[in-house]
Amino acid sequence: MLDRNGREIDYLRISVTDRCNLRCKYCMPDGIQSLSMSEILTYEEMCTIAETAAELGIRHIKLTGGEPLVRRGLISFVKKLKAVSGIEAVTMTTNGILLEKELPALIDAGLDAVNISLDTMNPEKYREITGTDGLDTVLSAIKAAGCLSKTELLGPDGFVQNAARPALRVKINAVSLDLGEDNLRALLDIARNMPVDVRFIEMMPIGFGKNFPAISHRALLEKLKAMYPGLQKDERRHGYGPAVYYAIPGYQGSVGLISAIHGKFCDTCNRVRLTSQGYLKTCLCYNDGADLRAILRAGLPETEMRAALLESMREAIFRKPDAHCFDKPAQITENAGMNAIGG
Ligand code: GTP
Ligand code: 5AD
Ligand code: SF4
Repeated sequence: MLDRNGREIDYLRISVTDRCNLRCKYCMPDGIQSLSMSEILTYEEMCTIAETAAELGIRHIKLTGGEPLVRRGLISFVKKLKAVSGIEAVTMTTNGILLEKELPALIDAGLDAVNISLDTMNPEKYREITGTDGLDTVLSAIKAAGCLSKTELLGPDGFVQNAARPALRVKINAVSLDLGEDNLRALLDIARNMPVDVRFIEMMPIGFGKNFPAISHRALLEKLKAMYPGLQKDERRHGYGPAVYYAIPGYQGSVGLISAIHGKFCDTCNRVRLTSQGYLKTCLCYNDGADLRAILRAGLPETEMRAALLESMREAIFRKPDAHCFDKPAQITENAGMNAIGG
């Protein structure tokens, strides 16, 4: 559906849990209290919301957390979402720690793409950022996923055209913290060796991200151009998100920039978010939206409940804020951390 600014909203991010098995210092450092299971939506409730969202024109679903793979039952949930009429792609963003052994089941369930968070290739820095010695585990998962990534089969929309073979689009997410040349080269070597895109994300002042500088990507792009002569804008579609891509000659994957602060992309925003507590958040920056859990649990007869859900979602999406105000911190009304929002 269109919002009041005429933006087509066809992408829903679902945070399936606020829990995580890492403790990234800009997202969920030590000492954060987890929600109780009764506060969190059940998969059935999330499915009802996804069905209603599809009626309103949502076509792409991104599963996030916390860490989505720490919640039991995720594979069957992927399968159920893939069967919802109107949903064309189900993708997931994960820290990669639990990914490798779940890959075959995820692919069987129909997962279309996976984004794996990895900010640094330096084991000490990885531990410093995440609180865990997990670099090798994540790299092993990236290799396993990268082997299943079949970009040669990708059609114009960036997803697999030939369903006969399982395939997965794989991307790396690196929050721009360690932009030294060594780290840039080490990360981009992944894109050289495998059909995996490597994206850099400007730190956003949400939750603990407020304690970190939002290093601008303008300087990063200049640095990348100097390091990789021949770097060229890559107009192909790589997903449904706001990243801008560049191709490096001879590399299988591309480099992507998600420049939320210094390259604001709100005028082409296509998305809303569902928190694990069932709040439909219409912009990352504000607490605007609708409490869908209250509707799901109001004890209404099924048809009335679904009608109320549809109306509430339609109204909230229509009212979606124009743009973020990260440059005017006093106007930010979102107080939750990224672990509760899902990025
Ligand atoms: P695909 O390209 O389809 O995989 O989607 P994506 O890039 O949106 O997904 P991902 O979950 O990997 O998000 C990457 C980064 O972009 C995260 O840091 C998100 O917080 C950020 N991001 C995603 N959507 C938005 C958005 O609407 N606004 C802002 N400001 N940041 C976003
Ligand atoms: N700013 C930008 N990106 C963030 N992420 C988590 N917190 C922030 C923040 N404050 C990233 C994670 C993950 C993605 C979903 O969002 O590292 O890759
Ligand atoms: Fe959309 Fe808000 Fe993100 Fe801007 S900050 S792209 S309006 S969700």
